[in-house]
Amino acid sequence: MFEKLEMAPPDPILGLTEAFRGDSNPKKINLGVGVYKDAAGNTPVLECVKQAEKALLASETTKNYLAPSGAAEYAAIVQPLVFGASHEIVTGGRAVTAHTPGGTGALRLAGDYLKKMHPEVTLWMSDPTWPNHPGVFASAGVPTKTYSYFDADTNALRFDDVIAALEKVPAGDVVLLHGCCHNPTGMDPTVEQWRRIGEVLAARHIVPLVDFAYQGLGTGLEDDSAGLLALCDACRELAVCTSFSKNFGLYNERVGALTVVADSADHAKVVLSHLKTCARTNYSNPPSHGSSVVQGVLGSSELTALWKKELAVMCDRINSMRKLFVDTLAAKRVTRDFSFLTRQRGMFSFSGLNRDQVQKLRDDHSIYIVGSGRINVAGMTEDNMDTLCSAIATVM
Ligand code: LMR
Repeated sequence: MFEKLEMAPPDPILGLTEAFRGDSNPKKINLGVGVYKDAAGNTPVLECVKQAEKALLASETTKNYLAPSGAAEYAAIVQPLVFGASHEIVTGGRAVTAHTPGGTGALRLAGDYLKKMHPEVTLWMSDPTWPNHPGVFASAGVPTKTYSYFDADTNALRFDDVIAALEKVPAGDVVLLHGCCHNPTGMDPTVEQWRRIGEVLAARHIVPLVDFAYQGLGTGLEDDSAGLLALCDACRELAVCTSFSKNFGLYNERVGALTVVADSADHAKVVLSHLKTCARTNYSNPPSHGSSVVQGVLGSSELTALWKKELAVMCDRINSMRKLFVDTLAAKRVTRDFSFLTRQRGMFSFSGLNRDQVQKLRDDHSIYIVGSGRINVAGMTEDNMDTLCSAIATVM
């Protein structure tokens, strides 16, 4: 069976982490995978998570299965976080939430649901998008197409092109949007632009699927959901993929959620019944530890306050690294203007470095960047900034 098999190509993002681990250069820098590093270059367990885990260890009484869609208590903390507790979507029962293994699990569950229940749907993705998006939907058997999003020459959003493209998407299709901190460009629409996108989608009966993996890491928890809420004003039906990998630092616990908003509570319940079936035939039911931690934190006002503080520290550090990176490159007399980085948000930016430069950074300086030139700003520290910017100045 296996004799004729060839090696699968390494993943463009996770493959870098493997190569990085094998690099013996003590000055190596990993700006590949989207993982937060603190000022000391570590990816710490948040204090609020440690405290919730302690309480969980003391109080947990069973490891019994969760339901395929997870616990109702989990849904009850995810929805207020995404929409706000008093939002009509939440109070009117128009949203249902399935607890999924991470944000990727949420995307895949959405893909499985679309393929099974709406096989005529094409999913439209921004060009560029997270390199795993096409694979996730292809694996689910959902056909995909792209809409133009980013102008690499001006490092800006091609807003007019986005609107023009959406105006041609057939009614009934699904458009994938990044709720904040667009991955890989870091370039988000303004709230006004989100409003306009919502109007176009609603008028054309197109359903938005919002990948919301970075809530709280752009400008702040509430600001980061402003675009999504503007979309909700216009669109009665939508879906949101949440991840707690980044904003809770729960990367390896695989905790996320797929929330579907329908035009009535009754329709929402029907959707949930199908999400359960899709989950059952994929992973049966989700892992519980990460969701119990998130519930433990968000169920306690003290731990919620601590989480918000810790999240704000992460967010501020990322934004201060953006500025320091731009200033340090300028100090190294790199003539290309990198100031666009300070206008972008979240962990990622397109650096504008080409594939040769990216390869040279890796071969000559042990600096790991995704081939597209995407850099993880959250991997920069005051300590590695000088080495990083000197190397970039050299390859440029
Ligand atoms: C990334 O884009 O680096 C993160 O979302 C991690 C991943 O799984 O690719």
